Amino acid sequence: MTILVTGGAGYIGSHICVELLQHGYEVVVVDNLSNSSFESIKRVKAITGKDMKFYQIDILEQEKLDLVFSENTIEGVIHLAGLKVVGESVQNPLQYYKNNLIGTLVLCEVMDKYNVKKMVFSSSATVYGIPKKVPISEDFSLGATNPYGRTKLMVEEVLRDYYISNHNWSIVILRYFNPIGAHPSGKIGEDPSGIPNNLMPYVTQVAVGKLKELTVFGNDYPTVDGTGVRDYIHIVDLAKGHMKALEKTMTSKGIEVYNLGTGIGYSVLEIIAAFEKVSGRKIPYKFAERRAGDIAICYANPLKAKIDLGWIAKRGIEEMCADSWNWQSKNMNGYS
Ligand code: NAD
Ligand code: UFG
Repeated sequence: MTILVTGGAGYIGSHICVELLQHGYEVVVVDNLSNSSFESIKRVKAITGKDMKFYQIDILEQEKLDLVFSENTIEGVIHLAGLKVVGESVQNPLQYYKNNLIGTLVLCEVMDKYNVKKMVFSSSATVYGIPKKVPISEDFSLGATNPYGRTKLMVEEVLRDYYISNHNWSIVILRYFNPIGAHPSGKIGEDPSGIPNNLMPYVTQVAVGKLKELTVFGNDYPTVDGTGVRDYIHIVDLAKGHMKALEKTMTSKGIEVYNLGTGIGYSVLEIIAAFEKVSGRKIPYKFAERRAGDIAICYANPLKAKIDLGWIAKRGIEEMCADSWNWQSKNMNGYS
């Protein structure tokens, strides 16, 4: 069975490709490499000892995408292609709406033309906006605080409307919490361009000496130690969640949404402590003002995925930190 992974050269996509190949699927990747490199594709092949097809295509280019579907018998799509930097989306909203929203519309049109009706979509916990309480369940009210988040919300709505118009579709929307870690081989991992925006890649680059010190955004939140609390999830657990979601699209029609998180929140200082413990490296840090748009506490209620999909996150925070460190220390400059 052949699965198309859009954005398959990226951080999450590369780990999903490993899982797909190891589960016996044939894999076709479409990626424009705007935020990734072909090296990740080579490494996925090296880890699995299996081949997969790669097309360097922008999903906005309908004719080229059409060709991918005509050349391959695609049964389902895991749709990850998208831009994901919150600050950048505030600076350049049109680029985000075009890429994330129009890109998805183009993909759905081509899927429809080729009668492919199974999709797993990468949404985000950001669609919960500022949650009224934690843990966050799928039925909480939705709202976005920035254009990136709104593109995710809009795509969720588009997919819901699309299903209403055609009950033969089978769609699973996954709302990721904070993916960190890397494949235990250290061959693939997160490779942000420029200065990292997210906590873990910043920490690993401090540890490896590329950055001087971490800035901790805010120490006056109503949390255990005043720093922001998040639900960090190991990237391999996240990728395995996609296998379960894909199986769900194979066995039933409908549209369902699931949180992918551990259900446990860790503060920034707890992450620093766990990382220092497993890496043996000191992470110098300073406190600064809260980062605009950040919320105090965010963690999932992952029960629905456990009950419906039979999925739970198994890897703990020290394993996440150890695998992030393993990747960074073996790949000082990422894939380049
Ligand atoms: P990533 O940037 O590493 O991967 C996204 C991939 O999509 C990249 O390889 C990029 O080159 C590709 N891409 C972007 N626009 C494209 C286009 N128009 N056509 C073809 N390819 C395109 O990011 P990631 O962390 O792997 O995230 C994957 C998906 O998961 C994204 O949609 C992101 O919004 C979502 N997500 C990520 C996180 C996170 O913290 N990493 C959290 C929630 C949701
Ligand atoms: N943080 C720092 N210093 C840094 C980076 C982050 O203190 O240099 C703190 C943040 O303030 C926050 C925590 O570390 O308290 C986590 O921040 P990240 O940037 O790693 O992650 P966010 O929770 O802010 O955002 C992530 C994704 C978003 C997504 C959101 C919800 O980057 O795309 O999770 O799923 F929308």
